[in-house]
Amino acid sequence: MSFIENINETVIDICRNAGDILMSGFRSESTVISYKSRTDLVTNIDKESEEYIVSAIKNKFKLHSVIAEEGSGRETDSEYVWYVDPLDATNNFAHGIPFFCVSIGVYSKIEKGIVCGAVFDPCHNEMFYAVKGKGAFCNGLPLKVSGIDDMGIALLATGFPYAKDDMERNNLKEFNRFLPGIQCIRRMGSAALDLCSVAAGRIDGYWEPLLKSWDTAAGSLIVQEAGGTVTKYDGSEYDPEYPEILASNSLLHKKMIQILTSE
Ligand code: IPD
Ligand code: CA
Ligand code: CA
Repeated sequence: MSFIENINETVIDICRNAGDILMSGFRSESTVISYKSRTDLVTNIDKESEEYIVSAIKNKFKLHSVIAEEGSGRETDSEYVWYVDPLDATNNFAHGIPFFCVSIGVYSKIEKGIVCGAVFDPCHNEMFYAVKGKGAFCNGLPLKVSGIDDMGIALLATGFPYAKDDMERNNLKEFNRFLPGIQCIRRMGSAALDLCSVAAGRIDGYWEPLLKSWDTAAGSLIVQEAGGTVTKYDGSEYDPEYPEILASNSLLHKKMIQILTSE
């Protein structure tokens, strides 16, 4: 087993254990919801999950950097940076909607890209994971993007940023450009699982603005390893620190770039 495959075994174990933490607080009266802003929720379970993840990484890979959504990570000089979303889709979680996950992607400063990652959906017991160059899997079975090449019958997903009242940036312009010419759009509420859905061929494409590195790091590699394409809106190289993403089954990518970049 290579060093990266070994890291990914740990990523998978940590995601599964963090998934147990999420389930312990799901639909539980003891879960406490607070507001980072009017539209941005966080719960004590986001924090518990992150506390566990960050300490588990530290136990095994003491020197690696960790960038985690709730702020408990640490920056080091290590080659490896772990991007951690301890609970992706807090809004679903807080409303009792069974669609959320843990997402962890590992970036190599030398390879300048994500080298492995996992996304675990504990409600459906689905563990999505990928190691660069080794394919993408869900519960041990290989993932493959869809074969749809006609936008007219494409099922896409997207999401809306927390700044809903900013009409220039709230994604409604892009949404309206796509809607008339496709089969339909889903807003499932988890960027990481949207990406896994592209990888699994359940949807054909996905775009979203104003995301963070921890939302997309793992999912971006899972899509690419399943045969899909992941870029910025203009088709240039995906960067986890850049706040927008376009992912597709590859066949629809050019068309989606045209729609996103048209005025
Ligand atoms: C959110 C989800 C959602 C996306 C938001 C993200 P969080 O993550 O991924 O689908 O639309 O932009 O911030 O806050 O629940 O971890
Ligand atoms: Ca997230
Ligand atoms: Ca989160």
